[in-house]
This record gives sequence, C-alpha cells and structure tokens, in this order.
Amino acid sequence: MHCFVKTPLNYTGNKFRLLEQIQPFFPEKINVMVDLFCGGATVGLNTNCKEVYFIDNDINVIGLLKFFQTQHFDELLIELQEIISEFGLSNSFKNGFKYYKERILDKNFNNGLKEYNKSGFYKLRDNYNQLKNKTSKEAFLKLYILLLYGFNNDLRFNSKGEFNLPVGKTDFNKTNVIKLKTYLEKIKTINAHYICADFNSDKVLKILNKADFIYLDPPYLITNATYNESNKWSNESEHKLLNLMDNLIQNNKKFVLSNVLQKKNKMNEPLYYWTEKNKEKIDIYHMHYSYSCASYNKKNREFKEDEIIVTWKRKNEN
Ligand SMILES: C[S@@+](CC[C@H](N)C(=O)[O-])C[C@H]1O[C@@H](n2cnc3c(N)ncnc32)[C@H](O)[C@@H]1O
Repeated sequence: MHCFVKTPLNYTGNKFRLLEQIQPFFPEKINVMVDLFCGGATVGLNTNCKEVYFIDNDINVIGLLKFFQTQHFDELLIELQEIISEFGLSNSFKNGFKYYKERILDKNFNNGLKEYNKSGFYKLRDNYNQLKNKTSKEAFLKLYILLLYGFNNDLRFNSKGEFNLPVGKTDFNKTNVIKLKTYLEKIKTINAHYICADFNSDKVLKILNKADFIYLDPPYLITNATYNESNKWSNESEHKLLNLMDNLIQNNKKFVLSNVLQKKNKMNEPLYYWTEKNKEKIDIYHMHYSYSCASYNKKNREFKEDEIIVTWKRKNEN
C-alpha cells in the first residue's frame, strides 16, 4: 500500500486516485522527470526521481507551487490564520466546524459554512484583486485562502485576471492543514523546477530533450474542467499534442499520457485515430476508475467513460 501525498491545490481531474494504477507503468529508475500539464503537481510529487520539472501554462498554479516550495509550515500557519481572522472568516481548524454552524441560520449540512463566510470572502476577493503585486507573499497567502473558501476549492480568473469564483462551503480546517503540512514536508525533499509555459514552446521542448521520462496529463478534449472553460483546449491543441507525442516516440523517450478516449457518446477522434495509426509503437491500458463514479465494469458500460493511458512500447523491455 502506497502512502501518496496530496497537493494543497484542489484540481479537477487530479490524478491522486489513479496514482496506484498509473505508476506501475512508469520506468523503475528515473533521473529527470517532466510532469507536463502538472496542475496541482500530484504526479511528480509522488514519483521517485532525481529531478522533476513541473510545467503548466497557468501562471497562478505555477506561482502557488513555487511559493509553497519556499515556505515553512509553522510560519505559514500563523500568517494564514492572521488573514483569516482579519477578514472575519471561519477557522474550523482552531474552533471546530460546529462552533460556526451554531452561529448561522443555515443549518443545512450541505451548505457548510457558506453563510458564515460570505461577507468576509467577498471582501478578501476584492482586496486580492486590487493588489498591485500578485507575486508577493501577501498575494499568494490570500490566493490560497480564496481557494480554500471558494466554490469547489477551485481557481478561476476572468479575462482581466481577477479571481471570480463565488464563496464555497469549506474553510481552513484540520484536513487542509494536514494536507499543507505533509505537502511542504514532501516537496522539500524533491529537486523541483517550476515552469510556466505552453507545452509546445521552445522552452518546454528543450526540457523534454533532457528528460528521461515524461508524464503528460493534458486537458481532455471531450470533458469539462475550470481550466478548460470556453474550450481553450481545441482540436488544434490536440493535434499539436499528438505531434509532440510523435517526436517523443521518434526520440525513444519514455512517456505516459493520460486521457479520456470516450465519454458517453463523445469520442476523442484525433487521439483515437492516432492510437490506431501508432499501434505498433505504443501500448494502451484502460483505467478502472472514472470521475463519474461509474467504474469501468460490465454493469456500468452504458456510461462508456474510457479513461486510458498510452505509454511507450514496453514489449521488448526486461
Ligand atoms: C488534467 S489537468 C492536470 C492535472 C494534474 N495532472 C494533477 O494531477 O493535478 C491539465 C492541466 O493542463 C494545463 N494546461 C492547459 N493548457 C495548457 C497548455 N497549452 N500548456 C501547458 N499546460 C496547459 C491546465 O492549466 C491544467 O492544469
């Protein structure tokens, strides 16, 4: 039984629950790994290697990961709670959930602490959006708190770069604190680099050249996520990704790609045809967990969510 560490950044489609299934397909020894489309860094964080490049084109995600790398848990705990108290937000870590639930009219458990935190959350959101320097310590602390108290613990910004999620139902609680502590302990043991760039940029291609293993977890063409709103990940992006995969194969790179090939009646056609064309050069495995909670078994076949991984051809390996 593995003891995987969770990231403090909640992420739609994060690979925590699939790690146990994916990792047996990774090389046994890795020197330089690239976690391409790293999101919350879950995969690189939990993989044994000498060095890992975390790459994502989301400036706030990479910013937060970089920030956490430099922080000490005890100080962070104090500083976060100072801001939480300044904005009158609940602190279940300190006082427990019940303490706050008793002080609001909304007793519905499903709404959590939404009512209690509403006013403070929007004040903090305005305050954060007005900050001039978004790479200061203050800005990252406030962004992380917005994530903890915001809807679905997600990160979302409008076209002006303003954080725009509404208040959510959770707060700074014991689970989040433990997550943060274990993450900080683990990340300090890793030789990590954080790169904010497009997967197809020259900078990234250079890094891929020196890597001996690449894990790729792009947005899925046929599913929805906050980082893929307004269809930012298009057919064109998918084709560019497949070109990049062709290059990885040509250069004998070891790689693992996660994706969803089919969901209900939708099919990722570019990927499907690419896998058909490259059958001799790759291996494909079907996963046993899907985000719709419909496991890949006979009973639930009607959901037809076919989550796959594609790997380099392993047949001839010892
Ligand atoms: C499926 S999520 C990755 C989840 C991650 N593996 C985890 O476990 O948390 C896809 C990620 O791709 C990033 N992304 C989207 N388009 C990109 C691009 N053109 N270049 C680099 N990263 C991109 C998104 O910001 C998002 O974090």
